[in-house]
Amino acid sequence: MAYSEKVVEHYENPRNVGSFEKGDETVGTGMVGAPACGDVMKLQIKVNPATGLIEDAKFKTYGCGSAIASSSLVTEWVKGKSLDEALSIKNTQIAQELALPPVKIHCSILAEDAIKAAVDDYRAKKAEPAAH
Ligand code: FES
Ligand code: FES
Repeated sequence: MAYSEKVVEHYENPRNVGSFEKGDETVGTGMVGAPACGDVMKLQIKVNPATGLIEDAKFKTYGCGSAIASSSLVTEWVKGKSLDEALSIKNTQIAQELALPPVKIHCSILAEDAIKAAVDDYRAKKAEPAAH
């Protein structure tokens, strides 16, 4: 199956690959797996505590080209957004932007789920600061 140009572009030049330093209280981490294929996506957001806006994002994806492209794309999209705006990103928008075929829709769902998990993690951290 042929990948769309945008998938190939993100796959060859993925944006924001990596992870933030462990123990950073302003970072939320989402780790999700796709039961359909076993691919795993880790997506992190770094929130500016003063503004509540996402100022940076990083990902590591062990998966197919569409999963890598989806995570690369959403790390670009969430920057500068509020947490609620990030939560409103739909996998259909990702799939449309990347022109994903039906069998690759679950790759974009993985990215949507990873963002939600990262926001949840950040909010949980803020609600109950870890005891040191
Ligand atoms: Fe093999 Fe996703 S199914 S990488
Ligand atoms: Fe499973 Fe892409 S994430 S094939």
